[in-house]
Amino acid sequence: MDAIVLLKDDHKMVEKLFKEFEQAGETAYKKKQEIVEKISQELCRHAYIEEAIFYPEARAEVPDTSDHVLESVEEHHVVAWLLSELKGMDPKDERFDAKVTVLIENVRHHVKEEEEDWFPQVREALGRNRLQELGERMEKAKAEAPSDPLALASARQ
Ligand SMILES: [Fe+2]
Ligand SMILES: [Fe+2]
Repeated sequence: MDAIVLLKDDHKMVEKLFKEFEQAGETAYKKKQEIVEKISQELCRHAYIEEAIFYPEARAEVPDTSDHVLESVEEHHVVAWLLSELKGMDPKDERFDAKVTVLIENVRHHVKEEEEDWFPQVREALGRNRLQELGERMEKAKAEAPSDPLALASARQ
């Protein structure tokens, strides 16, 4: 599996969960909480393989992407903290929906930048074989991802 195709598939999956959340009824508390748990799992796994494998590789191979990678890590940082706050939050709390909305806005912005501003440069520099090999490593690394968003490297700095 090509690394960038893998990451884009993950992006599509979380976007699907975001839509589910947005379409859930105002008082569908249990459903909204379940969706947020799924979002958290998916984003933790995704951020982990990006931070552990894809971002360092991109930076090493395409030094021009350094600023984009650093900005991406800061965006992961914000998302990790929002996810950790949502973990302990009652979905009936008046701030729950607002916090999820800000999380969704942040991730959508982040995904757009990855896909439009710098993944294409990485694709061009690495080529098909390297991306395949990276993708395989990333697929395997998903099993080692933390379930606690604050265990992500980006959350700790
Ligand atoms: Fe990312
Ligand atoms: Fe991503």
